[in-house]
Amino acid sequence: MRPTPSRLAILLLTGCSGPQYALDPRGPAASSIADLWWLMFALAAVVSVTVTAVLLVGIRFSRRRRRGLQSPEINGRALVWSGGVIVPVIILLTVLVVSFRAGTAVYPAGIDGTDELTIEVTGHQFWWEVHYPQHGITTANEIAIPAGRRVRFLVTAPDVIHSFWIPQLHGKIDMIPGRLNTVWIQADEPGRFRGQCAEFCGASHALMAFWVEALQEDEFVGWLEQRSAVRTEPAEVEGGREVFFSAGCGDCHSTRGEPLPPAFGSPGPDLTYLALRSTLAAGTRPNDRVSLSRWIGDPQRIKPGSRMPGTRLSEQDMEALVDYLLSLR
Ligand code: CUA
Repeated sequence: MRPTPSRLAILLLTGCSGPQYALDPRGPAASSIADLWWLMFALAAVVSVTVTAVLLVGIRFSRRRRRGLQSPEINGRALVWSGGVIVPVIILLTVLVVSFRAGTAVYPAGIDGTDELTIEVTGHQFWWEVHYPQHGITTANEIAIPAGRRVRFLVTAPDVIHSFWIPQLHGKIDMIPGRLNTVWIQADEPGRFRGQCAEFCGASHALMAFWVEALQEDEFVGWLEQRSAVRTEPAEVEGGREVFFSAGCGDCHSTRGEPLPPAFGSPGPDLTYLALRSTLAAGTRPNDRVSLSRWIGDPQRIKPGSRMPGTRLSEQDMEALVDYLLSLR
């Protein structure tokens, strides 16, 4: 395919919309960041245009002089002092003050928010563990928050450094092993936002995404209630449940449902409400029958470097297992 101007423009502009576009902010923190970005962009544009114009004028004058033609006298000393010292100092001071204010608005210090809604997010290679400590809910790769209210996120990581980033709602915050970082996030209106790991963390760093759903208050309460209820596992998926344990899925994944014994594996994502999630493998695939069986059969093909081993199953066992997983709702 030849790179025509319109194709190049499409390539350059594809990042300029959608649920992960930082310049379409949907919360107060992202708005501060976007304002700062536009200010810096405008200043950089004015400086670039001005410097280029001065350069072109200088070239033109020196050519005229070389040809022995008259050209206007320029006070070089004044130009260097104003353009090289005074104006840059004013611009840099402005950016410093505005970015400092944005920084304190986005990452406020010293808030005692222990009684506010808290969500703990742990970054793993390459997925997100999500825990609501006040409600006893554990899920993965999808986060629900109430719209119009700020939420306290506590983030960390057990393996390597990841970075928690929801471009339309907030700036990046590092998830550092052995450290708990706090960030306050608010979505002004209900909506669905894509998050992405923003720190290179291994082969599938680019495939480490998640979704945030900002819900109306009553919908959010329903979301919490649905997930805090004790699940009763339907009898018709008993066969698939047996495959789940015999194939070793339960060694790494929890499914907290009745009848006991449930699985209490820990290294992998909690699967208790797996069928309620819209994506698989941290935003990599849609959560449906085909993707589930492909993922279970050969996760490395979909997500290189994932900790999940492939599982060889007969067609019948795979069907039963997928039936069981899709009953987890
Ligand atoms: Cu996790 Cu990049």
